[in-house]
Amino acid sequence: MPSIQLSHLTKTYASSNSPAVNNLSLTVNDGEFMCLLGPLGCGKTTILRMIAGIEHASGGEIVIGDKVVDSVTQGIYVPPEKRGIGLVFQSYALWPHMTVEQNVDFGLRLQKVSAQAHIARTQDVQDVMEKLRIADYAKRYPAQLSGGQQQRVALARMLAVNPGVLLLDEPLSNLDATLRLEMRAELQRLHETFGTTIVFVSHDQW
Ligand SMILES: Nc1ncnc2c1ncn2[C@@H]1O[C@H](COP(=O)(O)OP(=O)(O)OP(=O)(O)O)[C@@H](O)[C@H]1O
Ligand SMILES: [Mg+2]
Repeated sequence: MPSIQLSHLTKTYASSNSPAVNNLSLTVNDGEFMCLLGPLGCGKTTILRMIAGIEHASGGEIVIGDKVVDSVTQGIYVPPEKRGIGLVFQSYALWPHMTVEQNVDFGLRLQKVSAQAHIARTQDVQDVMEKLRIADYAKRYPAQLSGGQQQRVALARMLAVNPGVLLLDEPLSNLDATLRLEMRAELQRLHETFGTTIVFVSHDQW
């Protein structure tokens, strides 16, 4: 799995004169599960958006594996779809008109595949739903699930494309205390199962 290296990373939004992220240097090792904890508005989401490539850095450099993906000085910017990264947003943004199964399949559907690969893909979706214990709800719509179950569907959708790097933006923020503990154990289990490099941000000590 790839490592992530941030060097002197800075982001100043056009509409603001103070930086949202200021000179951040950080290494996340291959297969590491790193948590970034910080108060509201300190720049956590901005960091993840830059790693994912949804946002350009204003200064500094991002290296994923052995590849520079963003560097202002070298004029390099690799688009999100070429970074092999899954990002689970603060609001988990499931498609309301799609069933659980269709939501999990969504990322895979964006990748054009052969008929044979399609069969393998159907198996992948089934596997990941079973690992996340949502297979029983495959035919339900998001509105028919609890918050915790929806959160697991959002995670499954990311894991189905088997990203080397998973970025999690406060994925437990909307859960009650019991469910949070359960999901925390679940994430640790997932990390052990998939060996993915994970960056998890939160404003809360969970
Ligand atoms: N698109 C944007 N344009 C201008 N300023 C922004 C934009 N997005 C975020 N900001 C500002 O950048 C700073 C960092 O925001 P960010 O969303 O990264 O913080 P955060 O740590 O994720 O906050 P929270 O804990 O509330 O999710 C904030 O001051 C915010 O107002
Ligand atoms: Mg945020």
